[in-house]
Amino acid sequence: MRLFKRKAGRAEELRIPRHIAIIMDGNGRWAQKRGLPRSAGHSVGAETFRKIATYCKNLGLEYLTVFAFSTENWKRPAEEVASIMALLEKYLLEAIEKMEKEKIRLHIMGNLEPLSPRLCELAAYATETSKKLDGFQVNLCLNYGGRDEIVRAVRKYAQEYKNGLVGDIDEERFGGYLYSAGIPDPDLVIRPSGELRLSNFLIWQTAYSELYFTDVLWPDFTEAELDRAIEAYSKRNRRFGGV
Ligand code: FPP
Repeated sequence: MRLFKRKAGRAEELRIPRHIAIIMDGNGRWAQKRGLPRSAGHSVGAETFRKIATYCKNLGLEYLTVFAFSTENWKRPAEEVASIMALLEKYLLEAIEKMEKEKIRLHIMGNLEPLSPRLCELAAYATETSKKLDGFQVNLCLNYGGRDEIVRAVRKYAQEYKNGLVGDIDEERFGGYLYSAGIPDPDLVIRPSGELRLSNFLIWQTAYSELYFTDVLWPDFTEAELDRAIEAYSKRNRRFGGV
């Protein structure tokens, strides 16, 4: 999708990505800088997520994928894990209440087994309700790890192959075994907080994604910051290995 944006009196063409993926990093540092518990950073981070998701929807994006909790985040203190789970529960409840009216679909990516029964129940309900909807989709990566996703996909494929249910593997077929089956790859990945790595986020799907890094910590991330990322993306020449 293309949008025109007025800047210093001239119209500039902006290519709005179909799919943006964000590593919501820097919540802990944001809180520590203010002498607050890390959970306060996650709370503000959750507000930032709401604001940015609304903005993405209004811009006409089709998909927003966010890294909310990784397979490695269990190593954090129990108190911090509990605070993130509580925020996720709150968000899922809220999403369920408004998703039909606001036409927001929700897709959970990750292994839900170790999560609380309440969280699993909310996730299942939100997923089911989303099937009836179309429009903007939020993909919530929850207990998600890119390597874990690939290993699970391989196991599932191998089992089906053994049972004679599927033929030989190729890239397209393999993609169908991932949590992201049917979802186009992210066009743009944004990582705030100054870290320059993917940290096991969508490692299959980001093969040709454009990457954008900023020093801003996630709780301080604004709509203007997203505009800057989209502007940078608009100037990239995506060749996908061609010329
Ligand atoms: C990374 O920052 C952030 C997380 C591990 C959790 C992200 C969770 C939220 C934003 C809240 C819940 C989400 C939703 C969608 C309601 P960090 O803690 O690693 O920051 P640091 O690198 O500064 O320590």
